[in-house]
Amino acid sequence: MTKPFSHGVVNDAASVTEVVLKAMSRTPDPRLREIMASLVRHLHAFVREVRPTEEEFERGLDFLVRLGQASGPQKNEVILLSDLLGISTLVVMLEKERSGGEGVTDPALLGPFWRAASPRCASGESIARDARGGEPLAVAGRVVDGAGKPIPGVLVDVWQASPVGLYENQDPEQPDRNLRGCFETDAAGRFSFRTVRPAGYPVPVDGPCGELLRAQDRHPWRPAHIHFMLSREGYRTLVTQVFDNADAAIESDVVFGVTPPLSGRFERGPDGALHLDYDFVMQPGKRRIPRPPLP
Ligand code: BEZ
Ligand code: FE
Repeated sequence: MTKPFSHGVVNDAASVTEVVLKAMSRTPDPRLREIMASLVRHLHAFVREVRPTEEEFERGLDFLVRLGQASGPQKNEVILLSDLLGISTLVVMLEKERSGGEGVTDPALLGPFWRAASPRCASGESIARDARGGEPLAVAGRVVDGAGKPIPGVLVDVWQASPVGLYENQDPEQPDRNLRGCFETDAAGRFSFRTVRPAGYPVPVDGPCGELLRAQDRHPWRPAHIHFMLSREGYRTLVTQVFDNADAAIESDVVFGVTPPLSGRFERGPDGALHLDYDFVMQPGKRRIPRPPLP
């Protein structure tokens, strides 16, 4: 065996971090090297600050193992933890900042319920394919660029929970791909659809993330919302949500997706019917479609 790279040995608590950083210092991929070095520095600083007992350390590791064990095709507790810690929201907000997205519609986390291949719908069509009803809601959107110029040909993928707060894949009573649809903006950048008013819903609380919420005295609710993914070649894909600002949880979204501009008004027209009108602003950039969290 040729002599392996020598990163030195640990003498005491103070020396551990430098030794570990040196052991990783030859990582060929520069971005991986940067990410892992920063992770080690921050995690070591966290351990120095918290000084966990051995029992606490065991409990923390067990929590991580159980996150993985509770995850599968129906539920992803690892993503859910990152949502509950505000990390998913922080990542999309930083990405907005990085892309110079001044004036662009705020992004919001993708969440675990987006499915690829939503039914293609004609403008004005209903995405409520379920006879069980709910309060009718008419949604009208307009998509423009930073200068206010309409963007035609944008694919607008929408998905939402039902009036009882369940996505179709969680609810055997709903037809396949109920309350999901994909529209295309017209020459004036407009799209519209009919639906039923979504209800707010709790994130899953039957796993380790639920335990954490209870231990922190936090409620599990998301305010009612509709998800939107807007994409077109030449534009940065916009993944966002528009919330019902009449929802009691509008200022306490458990996953921190609400920003003031995304807090939309579900208004009654003169005929008493409910409507949501919303303008979206996209910016030039790369179209990227995320990996679907659900099959
Ligand atoms: C959602 O908006 O669909 C969602 C986001 C985070 C956790 C659970 C659900
Ligand atoms: Fe949702």
